[in-house]
Amino acid sequence: MSVVIRALGASIPPQRITNEDLAARVDTTDDWIRSHTGIGARHFAPDGILTSDMAAEAAKTAMAKAKIGPHDLDLIVVATATPDYFGFPATACIVQDKIGAYGCAAYDIVAGCTGFIYALHAASSMLETSHGRHALVIGAEALSRIVDWNDRGTCVLFGDGAAAAVISRIDEAGRGCLSFLLGADGGGARDLYLVQAERDRTFERAQPVVPVISMNGRKVYDFAVKSITVMIERLMHKTVYRLEDFAWIVPHQANARIVQAAAKRFNIPQDKIYLNIEEYANTSAASIPLALAEMDQKGLLKPGDLVMLVGFGAGLTYGAAVVRW
Ligand code: UT7
Repeated sequence: MSVVIRALGASIPPQRITNEDLAARVDTTDDWIRSHTGIGARHFAPDGILTSDMAAEAAKTAMAKAKIGPHDLDLIVVATATPDYFGFPATACIVQDKIGAYGCAAYDIVAGCTGFIYALHAASSMLETSHGRHALVIGAEALSRIVDWNDRGTCVLFGDGAAAAVISRIDEAGRGCLSFLLGADGGGARDLYLVQAERDRTFERAQPVVPVISMNGRKVYDFAVKSITVMIERLMHKTVYRLEDFAWIVPHQANARIVQAAAKRFNIPQDKIYLNIEEYANTSAASIPLALAEMDQKGLLKPGDLVMLVGFGAGLTYGAAVVRW
């Protein structure tokens, strides 16, 4: 028995914002953003489009490709830092309603930019241990709604979008999700968190809370390089695979320099690492599935390919997955 990624779908909002567009309203330059991050553009969801809208669109595309209907689903897991409603209900439940998958289980996972890997682990484990056949694993974000436009160190980094994977339990062995590594370092929680702009609220004087991202960029950068390095080392130790066995490494797209630093440490050729940060910026939990959906669309993922997913983010969390395509 294996749990395989059977099909992928993406939803990219049409509003494309270049670095030059940002430089017209923020004290920054195209040169600074490109040289420090590798980002050239990002896409923003227009007013009225929620995280669940992008997630549902991506889900419908993935289900059509997988040739399954909403009633075939046993579970929907949405990884997001920007749910439609902070707290509850889960965005996964709203997605369930929007795609008409009534009755299946649905919940969200909060693991920052590592969210898709955490969600893939949770959903594939559920399929392995239950009688379930199919699950939707979605990474979806509307980060443009929570960036602090007064903080040029963070507001240039993020973009919106969603991608969904249909995962299915099959009888064949040795394919799909082969191995996972998940971890967290809660001591770094304050290095990347949502700060509530309005703090002096009381029950009598309720004010809408507008949370914004607060990040200690340098600390998160160091954590990211270290955690990618440690995860690759641990995967090589824990599994039978060597780095040369991997057709692709698909990292969380936070900063091209983070990925390049890790690649240099292991002499990984750049053409084995998939990067699309230049077009989409950092889409947090959506970044890894968006990269996979784009690779799939381009025909880059061949049956039998060994693929490593590796992510890190708020928590601070980290995670990796080994997937046989
Ligand atoms: O996905 C979640 C995980 N997040 C990450 O992985 C992000 C990790 N961190 C990073 O990628 C990097 O730390 C950043 C891209 C956020 C920042 O790069 P950096 O090389 O660490 O820059 P810095 O914050 O040390 O700032 C260097 C300089 C400062 O100016 P001074 O003090 O040297 O004069 C900043 O004020 O760059 C300045 N700066 C900017 N200048 C133009 C910061 N942001 C900007 C900007 N445009 N947008």
